[in-house]
Amino acid sequence: MEDKKAGLSEAMKAKMQPKKFEKNPILGTKFTIAISSAKGGVGKSTFATNLALALKKIGCKVGLLDADIYGPSLPKLFSINEKPESDGKILKPILKYEIQCMSIGFLTEEETPMIWRGPMVTSAIKTFTQKVGWNNLDFIIVDMPPGTGDTQLTFSQEIKMDGVIIISTPQEIALQDVKRGIRMFDKLGVKIIGLIDNMSHFVGDDGKKYPIFGEGGVKRTAEEFKKEFLGEIPISPEVGKQGDTGTPIVESKPNHEISKIYLDFAKKIKSIYL
Ligand SMILES: Nc1ncnc2c1ncn2[C@@H]1O[C@H](COP(=O)(O)OP(=O)(O)O)[C@@H](O)[C@H]1O
Ligand SMILES: [Mg+2]
Repeated sequence: MEDKKAGLSEAMKAKMQPKKFEKNPILGTKFTIAISSAKGGVGKSTFATNLALALKKIGCKVGLLDADIYGPSLPKLFSINEKPESDGKILKPILKYEIQCMSIGFLTEEETPMIWRGPMVTSAIKTFTQKVGWNNLDFIIVDMPPGTGDTQLTFSQEIKMDGVIIISTPQEIALQDVKRGIRMFDKLGVKIIGLIDNMSHFVGDDGKKYPIFGEGGVKRTAEEFKKEFLGEIPISPEVGKQGDTGTPIVESKPNHEISKIYLDFAKKIKSIYL
């Protein structure tokens, strides 16, 4: 077969090579773990915030990076209204519940729509990973936006990512997006720690399990892609209160059944890396 590159200049051939990126660690941190799903509204931010607090409770130093530039949720979920200090070069993370936090939502007014284009998103991510004074952290938990776009690509190609946890609800429509997300991270060589089934079922007053969004879909997806199934988190109205109170359940009710589930996940993550 004819070599399609024959006759091209050396410069042209070089351009056609896949671009090699240098993967930088996030300064001031040992391990970077992303929470992703490709689908919106499945509980990524809820999981990210509670996992961060659970890791803190078992003795880790933790940072929380809200990488959702278009729809930041950390200001509300952690009830943070201050602006981060800056010395002109480095932004200081805001300390809340002993977690070092950063979000684009700390820098803009709450109602400002994020009409940024791709390159600006990428530069915001670079600022958050290279120009924030993260201090001596064991883990940074990165709360990803939905989709498989610029943010996921920037993190996967340019930042040393140590693992990603994929969250989904059991509906087929969520799982479709999740499968796309799994393929993307696999292709980019980012280690998928495993899958979590969030809002797996509701336990009624009668003590029975009601699988409102269907049953077993996340586990089956994990099996299909040969990934670990990390477990399930039931629907709990207590978890949903975080959006109003600004205090995640692991902080407000550490002995609640759901908090114990988050703690178990945290122990598992700690045992993998530390
Ligand atoms: N296990 C759960 N039980 C009840 N509500 C939940 C649970 N997990 C998440 N939620 C709620 O679902 C909604 C979406 O969660 P969120 O974390 O913002 O999703 P995402 O970050 O994926 O868009 C929020 O209102 C949140 O309180
Ligand atoms: Mg979110």
